[in-house]
Amino acid sequence: MKFFIDTANLAQIKEAHDLGILDGVTTNPSLMAKEGIRGEEAINQHYKTICELVDGDISAEVLTTDFNTIVEEGKKLAAIHPNIVVKVPMIKEGVRAIKWFTDNGIRTNCTLIFSAGQAILAAKAGAAFVSPFIGRIDDSGWDGMILIEQIANIFEVQGYKTEILAASIRSPNHIIRAAELGAHVITSPLESILALLKHPLTDIGLAKFLEDSKKMSLVVEDIKQ
Ligand code: G3P
Repeated sequence: MKFFIDTANLAQIKEAHDLGILDGVTTNPSLMAKEGIRGEEAINQHYKTICELVDGDISAEVLTTDFNTIVEEGKKLAAIHPNIVVKVPMIKEGVRAIKWFTDNGIRTNCTLIFSAGQAILAAKAGAAFVSPFIGRIDDSGWDGMILIEQIANIFEVQGYKTEILAASIRSPNHIIRAAELGAHVITSPLESILALLKHPLTDIGLAKFLEDSKKMSLVVEDIKQ
């Protein structure tokens, strides 16, 4: 399963990248606005900087909702860097645009997926990724993981090449469950990725090992020499 980070914050992208496990980055208009990125030039420069930091898939979302402008916007985004994946909302005009991008060699991530039917349409149009929003489904009183499982089964049965990108991740358990259920990718805030590291027994065990290591003749200073 690939790991993407869901942020436009450069420090957090760098921190996840330094871990050595980062495969890509997803952004959305809310995340870009949070970083104070305004205007076409600044937006494009920010995507370029992210592409230079991470050699992987970088999702850049269109800000328009009709076919012609989505296509024009997507073409410009795709021209920023070969790793850009154009993120398109799950709407009728978006599905048309995804098909156009597919036919013209531009990869897409269909966002705001909340049902299996939406995922099927995006896959039929040739989206490289579908992004079901796990956390927001949980918030609505359903279970986002049931949707991941359902889409994974359908894509397997139908042989769709589209990758399932579990988005709106809110906890380390979301990441673990997505892996279990066959998501190809998760996109997560840094906090949930780092939370995967943590277990109290690891901390207790390490403290004991370090304490006992003092009883050994080889100490850190010797190792450094
Ligand atoms: O980038 C799309 C998705 O991951 C947003 O997550 O936490 O705003 O529901 P969230």
